[in-house]
Amino acid sequence: MTLLKTADWSGATASALKQHAERLKSVHLRDLFQENPEQRIHQFSIEQPGLLVDFSKQRLDGAAWTELKRFAEESQLQEAIAALFAGKAINETEGRAVMHMALRGTAEDDYRVEGQPVMPGVLSVRKAFLAFADQVRAREDIRDVVNIGIGGSDLGPLMVTKALRRFSNGGPRLHFVSNVDPGHMEAVLANCTPENTLFVIVSKTFTTQETMTNAHLAKAWMAEHLPAEKLVGHFAAVSSAPERAQAFGIEPDWVFGFENWVGGRYSMWGPVGLAIACAVGSQSFEAFLSGARAMDLHFRTCPIEGNLPIAMALVGIWNRNFMGFSSHAVLPYAQDLDRFPAYLQQADMESNGKRTTRTGEEVGHETGPVVWGEAGTNGQHAFYQLLHQGTEIHPADIIAFQQPMSDAPGAADGHRKLLANAIAQAEALMMGKPEADSAHRKFPGNRPTTFMALEALDPYHLGLLVALHEHRIFCQGVLWNIFSFDQWGVELGKVLAGQILSDWASQSPGLHDASTTALMLRFARPEN
Ligand code: F6P
Repeated sequence: MTLLKTADWSGATASALKQHAERLKSVHLRDLFQENPEQRIHQFSIEQPGLLVDFSKQRLDGAAWTELKRFAEESQLQEAIAALFAGKAINETEGRAVMHMALRGTAEDDYRVEGQPVMPGVLSVRKAFLAFADQVRAREDIRDVVNIGIGGSDLGPLMVTKALRRFSNGGPRLHFVSNVDPGHMEAVLANCTPENTLFVIVSKTFTTQETMTNAHLAKAWMAEHLPAEKLVGHFAAVSSAPERAQAFGIEPDWVFGFENWVGGRYSMWGPVGLAIACAVGSQSFEAFLSGARAMDLHFRTCPIEGNLPIAMALVGIWNRNFMGFSSHAVLPYAQDLDRFPAYLQQADMESNGKRTTRTGEEVGHETGPVVWGEAGTNGQHAFYQLLHQGTEIHPADIIAFQQPMSDAPGAADGHRKLLANAIAQAEALMMGKPEADSAHRKFPGNRPTTFMALEALDPYHLGLLVALHEHRIFCQGVLWNIFSFDQWGVELGKVLAGQILSDWASQSPGLHDASTTALMLRFARPEN
């Protein structure tokens, strides 16, 4: 594929943006608000059905914003979006298209990969795995479902299953085992009984060390308690290498496949979301897909002006590259969404934590920030001190939901307090408190936030929220001129761990530096 023109980081628009940033570094958000309050809120917020994104508390003004949009136009971002949706092989280092949007498509969407229609295959796998999930929910003997997977085969399904806790409607209990630390499996199995447990082994490659190790642990645990012929009904798998899952001993009909044009961290919309479907049922799962599909349609068709993922991408670029902020906090004011920051860490940092341009040179600008966060209000009693009075500025996204996340008596009161805190934090971070009787009690303010207000933490709105972030990450990759859909940076550590295991096994010191050798010796006890 011919590379599209990307952002020109040494061109006229980039230098105009640098000048705007220099100018705005000495302007307080309080003053920006005083200039034209009504217009500011209108100019710096975008509303889609069920979702308002208010970025008026970002350190931007009209002139800088216009220049940012020009930056996007000049980089042929819209052409890159068209190439994504056309199923071109935009993941060039792996020679693959990127088509996870098809996993939430309908028969009306004529998604193609390299010219071939993909919806018939997607819809037939969806039908099969959703029917399987509903059967699991109906099985009286299955009380616990254990998802074994890591990275994209864990974080998305775990985050969504927790977030949609209230939609379980009598479904099984869901557990997630990811870490190769056997303590993770042990802790989960302590709450399960073999007769009542279904394991779902999820691995795109079906070779990942952690997942394979845990899958064998699960098999051994079952074999210890159940006769061999009964094991079959307790294991299902999801993989793009279904033959490996079958070789592991899983019934062919209980293996659900997906294609290589779905990246691991973008995969929960298809059979990788089986755990979600077991937790909430096929109807809620479909609603989750339709929320994401609504965002796909918006992203694909809306011009730069008013396009939510593009706007979020530009705000992120502004903070990272022009204001110089190195991290990005994600603060969901919903306890059920407390794994969202962890999910987003992989989606964002594995996608955009890169230093090489699409043409193989070292990038001359910063790329992905450190993404981190915690659910509010818990975070307020942990790290907000630093957000308010620390020496560095960490922009934050605050996410809140209009409807309470509980129907319990008295929940309305707690929810009102939760919302008051979310809104107050954004206000405090922006306004600060310049007057106080001692310097310790002063707050500088001028700390930027974006406020995302959603109607409810339900399947549809969660789909909308996640897809917004996926597309925002894609746009930033285009603007940074990096490939967002590979993850070569995770390889070296994996190879060296393999080497250490083999050096231990052969009791050889191997070829390591002195510190590594000393650590290997220290841990090389027989039980290891
Ligand atoms: O962390 C590296 C990675 O390849 C992720 O991209 C992926 O989500 C994870 O490992 C798990 O991979 P798999 O689904 O193949 O087991």
